[in-house]
Amino acid sequence: MKNKIRIAMAGVGNCASNLVQGIEYYKKNVNSSAGLLYRFAGGYDVTDIEVVAAFDIANNKVGKDLSEAIKAKPNCTRNVAEVPETGVIVQKGPVLDGWGPHMEKAVKVSGAPECDAGAVLDLSRPDIMVIALPTGSKEACYYYIGQALKRGISVVNGIPVLASHDETVARLAVKNKCAIIGDDFKSQIGGTVLHNALLRLLDARGIKINGSHHVNYAGNADFLNLYTRGEEKHKSKARGIKAGVSQDVDLSVNITYLENQGDNKTCRVWIEGENFSGCPVTVESKLTVVDSANASGVLVDAARCLMVAKRKGIYGRLEAVSAYFCKSPYKQIPEDEARKAVVKFLNG
Ligand SMILES: NC(=O)c1ccc[n+]([C@@H]2O[C@H](COP(=O)([O-])OP(=O)(O)OC[C@H]3O[C@@H](n4cnc5c(N)ncnc54)[C@H](O)[C@@H]3O)[C@@H](O)[C@H]2O)c1
Repeated sequence: MKNKIRIAMAGVGNCASNLVQGIEYYKKNVNSSAGLLYRFAGGYDVTDIEVVAAFDIANNKVGKDLSEAIKAKPNCTRNVAEVPETGVIVQKGPVLDGWGPHMEKAVKVSGAPECDAGAVLDLSRPDIMVIALPTGSKEACYYYIGQALKRGISVVNGIPVLASHDETVARLAVKNKCAIIGDDFKSQIGGTVLHNALLRLLDARGIKINGSHHVNYAGNADFLNLYTRGEEKHKSKARGIKAGVSQDVDLSVNITYLENQGDNKTCRVWIEGENFSGCPVTVESKLTVVDSANASGVLVDAARCLMVAKRKGIYGRLEAVSAYFCKSPYKQIPEDEARKAVVKFLNG
């Protein structure tokens, strides 16, 4: 029988929606590897990923088949594929700090009883737990990570809660022979990687950087949440933007919710610097992407790394892999070096 990667999703928002639709998309587009390091890597095709369990708290997602829940509002990512009924019913996880009054307009909490996520995992037997909760959900993040790791289920932490830095978490993973990649997905091509690449270019060319600015806007639930609870995201972005830059950069980052943008995210970056004899240099750039699609390719490649790690008996935090896929890894490693390490890890 063909090897599969069985995933549990904590959070059925836009990221989950694009991932689930994307798997169907690649089933129909058999020669495409767009948005992935490789179509086939570590022994797995992208279509070998299947979601076997899903947790959410929203009244229009809980109790629904995953194929229906991924389309429920406030999810607003574009339709890229029809998803047939999956047989996976979204379970109501513990709410904890996953919801706050600032989300009242977008998310109504389901009145269904909260499930025991551990029991759901015992039944569904995923290989990997993906944390795709709203930013700021520290308690909920730790809850799902704990339930997963103590069962030997590896974790990709897509949100800016520094769980993979935590020694207790890393030790729990080693003890139970599984691994963790974190923290906070670094988008395939988002503002952080673009800004970081421009800064590293100027730095390498001897330009003195006087100021660097970054504005990000979108109209999805993630940005609605970030507008109020964006503090950890700001810090995480700053870490990713400055990674590998030798100068101490005066950086300002802003995240704004623009309702009519839906899941389209725009990032504007501008940098001011000095060239030879103090002559000015400015760089400006604008990037527009479908926000959730930016996380899916990263997630697919990260999941394949976790499967390879398990096969090779590598447990705990995967440092180089995390540096490539995440904004706030335990150890920042220059992009090119981290990429080489990932390629070697997947194919070596
Ligand atoms: N799009 C990207 O490229 C990208 C990059 C980096 C990080 N991220 C992060 O990934 C996370 C997910 O993004 P998204 O766009 O899917 O967000 P989203 O707001 O669309 O989805 C979050 C989902 O989590 C659910 N939820 C809230 N509390 C919960 C709980 N206690 N248990 C289970 N589910 C709960 C919400 O109801 C919602 O469906 C965000 O934190 C975002 O910042 C995304």
